[in-house]
Amino acid sequence: MKSYQLVICGGGSTYTLPMIKTLCDFREVFPLWSIVLFDVDPDKQHMVYEAAKVMVEEAMGGVEVRECYTLDAAFADADFVFMQIRAGGLRMREQDEKIPLRHGCIGQETCGAGGFAYGMRSVPQVAEIVRAVRAQSPRAWIINYSNPAAIVAEATKRLFPGDRRLIHLCDMPIAIMDAFAESLGMKRQDLTPRYFGLNHFGWFTNLYDPRGKDLLPAIRTMLKSGSAAPEELKGDAGWVETFAQLGEMVRDFDGEGYVPNTYLQYYLYPEKMAAHMDPRYTRANFVMDHRVAHVRQMCEYIVEHGSIRGSGLEKGVHGTYIVELASSIIRNENRTFIIITPNNGIIPNLPPEAMVEVPCLVNANGVTPLHMGNIPTFYKGLLENQYAYECLTVDALLNGDRDAALKALVLNRTVTDTGRAKGILEDLIRANRDYWQVK
Ligand code: NAD
Ligand code: G6P
Ligand code: MN
Repeated sequence: MKSYQLVICGGGSTYTLPMIKTLCDFREVFPLWSIVLFDVDPDKQHMVYEAAKVMVEEAMGGVEVRECYTLDAAFADADFVFMQIRAGGLRMREQDEKIPLRHGCIGQETCGAGGFAYGMRSVPQVAEIVRAVRAQSPRAWIINYSNPAAIVAEATKRLFPGDRRLIHLCDMPIAIMDAFAESLGMKRQDLTPRYFGLNHFGWFTNLYDPRGKDLLPAIRTMLKSGSAAPEELKGDAGWVETFAQLGEMVRDFDGEGYVPNTYLQYYLYPEKMAAHMDPRYTRANFVMDHRVAHVRQMCEYIVEHGSIRGSGLEKGVHGTYIVELASSIIRNENRTFIIITPNNGIIPNLPPEAMVEVPCLVNANGVTPLHMGNIPTFYKGLLENQYAYECLTVDALLNGDRDAALKALVLNRTVTDTGRAKGILEDLIRANRDYWQVK
């Protein structure tokens, strides 16, 4: 069987080790001859590379593992490129979260003013990598999940028009489906979703079992009375709370029988959520203190023992989903994935050019979105507002346009006043001067 070369961009990411474990576990499904780790920061990537070499040698000896720090040769033989870069690192994530909070607004990695600032940093770096990939391997499949995926998708649609091998993906709908499947004693792969929205801004409308029974009503009843979090996230208090918040949203918005993405909590309860966040210790601090430290320990353990046995490393939902997607492409499997893709009439009462997140069939020909139909007024209004925010963010970035930047922030539901938007923008411009400018 044919085997492939995979390049992981952002090889030093906290997601790389579980990703390599997933690749080892799925070696029959997604056969590789080479894994290249590409990063700009040897301090972050080299230890991951050392551990990855041990892991790959142990599980699939003979497969090449390489580390790389320049763009010129990184993609010469690439069949697949997975992108998980974080422009500015977790230190800038901390700024994205703390600056809006100082002004009484949500401080979040991808939502609100933090997501705006991160998008402005992320797009130029993602675009530079896409350009290098296309120069070296025009037909490589690029699977991007660098955040904020909504902004990155809108920008790359404009910068690389018609590139059907550039796919934008988020694991949140899948993590939510995992949680529901576990509560029902089922496998996520046996559930077929209907879902619409923008990235981190969408709703499940149905969730079918293999016999065609819609399980969403039962899930809503369960959410109203309790909570659900996927097994993998149960040790993380932040995520447990986030899943608990689904219950309130389902109770408050009962009409159509939908279930929102967890990220809607920031847009539907911006004041309550902002009041609840600690401006001195945000999620970035938690991730640096826990996940980054944990990854470092695991790398050290694996290298020292020459084996992953006893390291506690497990594959994660994130990597599993991406490998399932790659498998559906190379094996022409026609499986359904929720993907960020041009609307083109899939939701007729939203703009055709919007990058929507909807179920898509994935096969050797790439991604084909499934028709969703018109959506009710409440959701249409929310989505049009959010999409306008996304468009203005990309305008601000591509044209260095300060007026567009302010309007983007004002439109975002998490930024609750124009005065606050102005103050936040000033502070973000200062904090991001090494990354982007607006005039
Ligand atoms: P991290 O900071 O630990 O890892 C990111 C890595 O990217 C670092 O090693 C960094 O040096 C590297 N990097 C930064 N800029 C780069 C560039 N221009 N070229 C190459 N490498 C570069 O962050 P993390 O928490 O592991 O997250 C990684 C990324 O994956 C983030 O963008 C995160 O938001 C994203 N992510 C997205 C989803 C999704 O649902 N779409 C899910 C999980 C993670
Ligand atoms: C989910 C989202 C990602 C986001 C991540 C943040 O997986 O889909 O887009 O990056 O959560 O998780 P963290 O643990 O870093 O706060
Ligand atoms: Mn996501």
